[in-house]
Amino acid sequence: MSMKSGVSRRRVLKNGALAASSFFIVPRHVLGKGYRAPSDKINLASIGAGGKGRSDIMNAWNKGAENVVALCDVDRDRAGESIKKFDKAKVYSDFRKMFDEMSDDIDAVTISTPDHTHYVSAMAAMQLGKHVYVQKPLTHNIYEARKLTEAAREYKVVTQMGNQGASNPDQKLMAEWFDQGLIGAVHTVEVWTNRPVWPQGIPVPSGKQSLPKSMSAEDWDLFIGPARMVDYDPLYHPFKWRGWWNFGTGALGDMGCHLIDQPFRLLKLGYPTEVECSVGQVFIKDWQPEYIPEGCPPSSRVEIKFEASDHNTSDIKLRWHDGGLRPFHPDLIPANDFLGEPGSGNGVLMIGDKGIITCGTYGRRPQLYKMNGDKMEKPKGYGEDDPYNKLPENGHQTRWTDACKAGFDSKEHKALTSSFDYSGPLTETVLMGNLAIRSYMLGKKKGDDLNFEGRKKLLWDGQNMEITNFDEAAQFVKREYRSGWSLT
Ligand SMILES: NC(=O)c1ccc[n+]([C@@H]2O[C@H](COP(=O)([O-])OP(=O)(O)OC[C@H]3O[C@@H](n4cnc5c(N)ncnc54)[C@H](O)[C@@H]3O)[C@@H](O)[C@H]2O)c1
Repeated sequence: MSMKSGVSRRRVLKNGALAASSFFIVPRHVLGKGYRAPSDKINLASIGAGGKGRSDIMNAWNKGAENVVALCDVDRDRAGESIKKFDKAKVYSDFRKMFDEMSDDIDAVTISTPDHTHYVSAMAAMQLGKHVYVQKPLTHNIYEARKLTEAAREYKVVTQMGNQGASNPDQKLMAEWFDQGLIGAVHTVEVWTNRPVWPQGIPVPSGKQSLPKSMSAEDWDLFIGPARMVDYDPLYHPFKWRGWWNFGTGALGDMGCHLIDQPFRLLKLGYPTEVECSVGQVFIKDWQPEYIPEGCPPSSRVEIKFEASDHNTSDIKLRWHDGGLRPFHPDLIPANDFLGEPGSGNGVLMIGDKGIITCGTYGRRPQLYKMNGDKMEKPKGYGEDDPYNKLPENGHQTRWTDACKAGFDSKEHKALTSSFDYSGPLTETVLMGNLAIRSYMLGKKKGDDLNFEGRKKLLWDGQNMEITNFDEAAQFVKREYRSGWSLT
């Protein structure tokens, strides 16, 4: 794939101080109050315009505050509502063709494809100087997350990952509580989710299924992108790709960037040092576990360790539970109190030597339990003075479009809650869990039995992206791309 089509006109306008000054070509006062000059707007494109992509592009468009000039999706039905809504936008199924034809007309791109195509599409956009909003998890593997983080700085583009809870003011409140020393040094973090809520831990689909009418063989080839070619199956597209390592990142990939976000931000976590896991088994015959290394497991528990820092003076054990399994009530939380938030299968507990903070998905419903039994909740009206919080998803996409207009390194850019400087390392930590799970599931035939050498604690050298005590784990740090999909 070649994406080196020269520097676009708009890229020159958007980067650095020049961007801010040259953007407003027609002064607002000339046009009258309330009128938005066409040059005030940025031109947006969406890659993966169906599924979550629909609300991403709708929210970024923000009722006409920006233009939507191009939509790219491999399934015209799945993207149907977006195509109908933005009927003036040019529609593509191949983002490479979209960039070849329209690069000069596009300022910024929302990317909401399945996880395995985040990296190639985001890198292609960034190399052309486009600002990017990329769904969570930022990438499919750790190496890609590191590369995108570096690329954001190299190409000086404004970035935001789609973990919208990052812009929820409740997260800010929890950070304030922690910074005031109200729970002391945190030693244990428990995070749990009801995911997977799609088929997972099932045998690999076999047999040939017809493509949906809305997709051609070429579209399916584009869906596969850099992944290993497999025949179409409704157990892959749409939505269910999550449960297969070829495309998705399992329960951790689905919820990790929403739930590990809070401890990662609050405690300013760095690279993990160790990771260990165990996974739920599947039996379809007595005493004989199914061996499905291609599929993510039905449930897992992962423990990731971090060293103490100046910010949090205790080592930390972060424990992840999925498949509907939850941690037990800490003694400090009364028996009848809910963990996380009521009625939700997801939550977070941050346990310190002076108290506990707990919250639900996206940092919602924060609560603080002190050692003396006192409980604190969100003060009434907290965060309501920020107009972005009145927008869908706390303006997570709109904060990004405004930062795109203000330019790289602007105040607005620095205020973003999930630019890649933050969300790249967060994604690396989330994907550490998957590295452990995939190593744990790696079986080798030895006689008639399977021999699982990766079932141990793995030691991580974060700087060098290397497991130092199990060489075979290296295959899960990065992946091989299908021929024709390596970036130049
Ligand atoms: N932040 C959130 O709350 C949230 C919620 C749901 C999904 N997501 C994330 O959004 C992404 C998409 O998830 P989804 O549930 O919408 O999946 P989906 O399968 O429902 O939708 C993906 C869309 O991308 C299209 N697509 C697939 N491959 C493509 C390609 N190569 N080029 C262009 N279009 C392509 C599909 O046709 C479909 O319209 C994932 O990364 C997921 O983790 C985030």
